[in-house]
Amino acid sequence: MSDFASPDARNAFIAGLPKAELHLHIEGSLEPEMMFALAQRNQVAIPFASVAEVRAAYAFSNLQDFLDIYYQGMAVLLTEQDFHDLTAAYLARAANDGVRHVEIFFDPQGHTERGVAFATVITGITRALDAARARGLTSRLILCFLRHLDEASAEATLDEALPFLSLIHGVGLDSSEAGHPPAKFARVFARARALGLKLVAHAGEEGPPEYVWEALDVLEVDRIDHGNRALEDPALVARLAASGMCLTVCPLSNLALCGVPDLPSHPLRRMLDLGLAATVNSDDPAYFGGYVNRNFEAVAEALDLDRAALVKLAENSFRGAFLGDAERDAHLKAVRAYVG
Ligand code: ADE
Ligand code: ZN
Repeated sequence: MSDFASPDARNAFIAGLPKAELHLHIEGSLEPEMMFALAQRNQVAIPFASVAEVRAAYAFSNLQDFLDIYYQGMAVLLTEQDFHDLTAAYLARAANDGVRHVEIFFDPQGHTERGVAFATVITGITRALDAARARGLTSRLILCFLRHLDEASAEATLDEALPFLSLIHGVGLDSSEAGHPPAKFARVFARARALGLKLVAHAGEEGPPEYVWEALDVLEVDRIDHGNRALEDPALVARLAASGMCLTVCPLSNLALCGVPDLPSHPLRRMLDLGLAATVNSDDPAYFGGYVNRNFEAVAEALDLDRAALVKLAENSFRGAFLGDAERDAHLKAVRAYVG
């Protein structure tokens, strides 16, 4: 049973809870209003007449439905200023949600294949991250490979990233999961690890538990993004729990992409009960109806999460973050101080 006096009291507790966001695609934070503004600024045609029409198009049956619109939306991002403005807008919202540290995904292949230079993308994003750091919000940048493309394209992208390695903390794997198992990217992930990069992969979002095993055993990832379908395999659950593997769970994304029929069916509470190091994240907040606090609020209400569960989720976010020990300890102390 929830130990809050009211839903408003729970939401107020969530609002002030220090937290890290570990699963956020920066291109997925492109709000329809900014899509229109950038389309106008860059003279790019978009197939929508109004913001309302864009939002009406955001009715998805599965991951691919969403990805088709997501890649289309990216077309308005052309200049370094665009990438800066996109990132700055997300960071302002995150800070407002009590996010103290954020680990941001970006999809360079979604831009380089449109003729936008890798340098343009990373320079714009980094300029916004630097400004936020000066205001106390720390960050890490994770380069994601698009898994519907081949490994040679991922290798070429890693080559393009080499001059910017000091700005990149890890690599990830996203886009269409079904039919694109982690092992397809075994070599490029091995090279990234040898370069000293952290490794993460979307696995078990739509794909089977075998993909989560592969992410662990073949790619040797440091975190699993989503991981929902791991719950179908008790041996996998035991492995994830024993190793303390962080899962970056995204409740409103799972709902929007029909991974769950409704939020009361969401596996987050079961994950915590099984001893899994689950966290709450927004994935693509402009498309799925909310930033990180909205995800916390919605799933807390649907699953009747109590104060201890919310604190656990916040602690898991800092434990799973790619932070140094001193920084991690300081964040965990801030959580304890907030709880009192
Ligand atoms: N790219 C952006 N959001 C994604 C998601 N939820 N799954 C896979 N690829 C993505
Ligand atoms: Zn994602």
